[in-house]
Amino acid sequence: MENQTEKQIRVYQTDDLIVYWDAKQCSHVGKCWQSLPQVFKPKERPWITMDAASPEEIIAAIDKCPTDALKYELPEGSKVDPKIAAGPGWVDYKKDEVTSIKIKMIKSGPLRVEGAAQVFDGDGNLLRQSNHIILCGCGKSGNRPFCDGSHVNK
Ligand code: SF4
Ligand code: FES
Repeated sequence: MENQTEKQIRVYQTDDLIVYWDAKQCSHVGKCWQSLPQVFKPKERPWITMDAASPEEIIAAIDKCPTDALKYELPEGSKVDPKIAAGPGWVDYKKDEVTSIKIKMIKSGPLRVEGAAQVFDGDGNLLRQSNHIILCGCGKSGNRPFCDGSHVNK
């Protein structure tokens, strides 16, 4: 099942798992579909097929998402062990407090920001606040300063 919330976050739900996807935060570089290609199919609509893997496998794949684009939570009555569903992709996951952020250059172009960070535009408006941010380092993104995967496609 696929739904859209008011904030344009897509929602995919089964009896055991709810998955949220925020396109604006997605860097489109594909940790999710590398982990579970039968579930995450970016060329299809809906692009997430919830019944193509177990909820536990989907949770493990979402925990690898390098941004906050993919998130999950358990609906009431879910058969999934809540301990499994408490990783970095959980909607209520809180990272340990960090005293400094890390910015790592990724060889293919993007810059990975780890730790609580805020990104502002040139007028001082807050664009994003997150523990996982991927910035464009190649200059080709259509969603600068964030990476949108264009470094792969162009
Ligand atoms: S940012 Fe997350 S949702 Fe987007 S492609 Fe990468 S792993 Fe998938
Ligand atoms: S680094 Fe990904 S679009 Fe520029």
